Amino acid sequence: MSWKASAFVLGVGLMGLGLMSGAAVSEEPRVSFPANYKTAFENYLSLDRVQNPDQIIRLFANDIALEAAREGKELPNGSILVGEIYKAKTDAEGNIETSALGRRMRGKFAAVAVMEKGEGWGDKYPVGLKNGDWDFAIFSPDGKPLNKDLNTCRSCHAPMAATQYLFSLEHMGQ
Ligand code: HEC
Repeated sequence: MSWKASAFVLGVGLMGLGLMSGAAVSEEPRVSFPANYKTAFENYLSLDRVQNPDQIIRLFANDIALEAAREGKELPNGSILVGEIYKAKTDAEGNIETSALGRRMRGKFAAVAVMEKGEGWGDKYPVGLKNGDWDFAIFSPDGKPLNKDLNTCRSCHAPMAATQYLFSLEHMGQ
């Protein structure tokens, strides 16, 4: 298969996962791929995704984030959080399979979602898209930026102001 065909297949697959919007998006992500996250970050939580019935997520945080979370402080600039997103394993008919624990099982590794906090990074965003000074990016498992409308990330996380725009804050640094 040519790379164009592969990219198309990947794109269609990711759209099915709700990881990609139909429209082309030109935004350059400000957040870069944290290439060392598998060894340098802590995997603080893994779960069946709450809002996506066919996905699993494994969450990682760097020491800067974990230390502040442990102390109950605001996560400082330089905090980086990673969500490894997997398709849930399906049977021959395409139904989601669950384990003896009633949990989904990991299928294809689909994407790496990243949040990072930086000085003044929230300044340009209006209410509804602003997540304090957090910003977002999404990559293929090998670190290539995916063509995704990052405002979908921003608008879903923005209501979580009480937990620093994070869904899993209370699980961090335990
Ligand atoms: C429809 C809502 C929604 C959208 C859109 C969304 N997220 Fe999230 N995100 C969540 C939820 C819920 C969690 C908690 C874990 C889970 O169930 O996936 C989460 C967790 C995370 C985490 C771990 C930190 C935390 O908040 O717990 C990161 C990093 C993350 N998302 C990045 C992204 C990125 C990057 C995008 C856009 C490509 C994105 N998210 C889009 C709902 C969303």
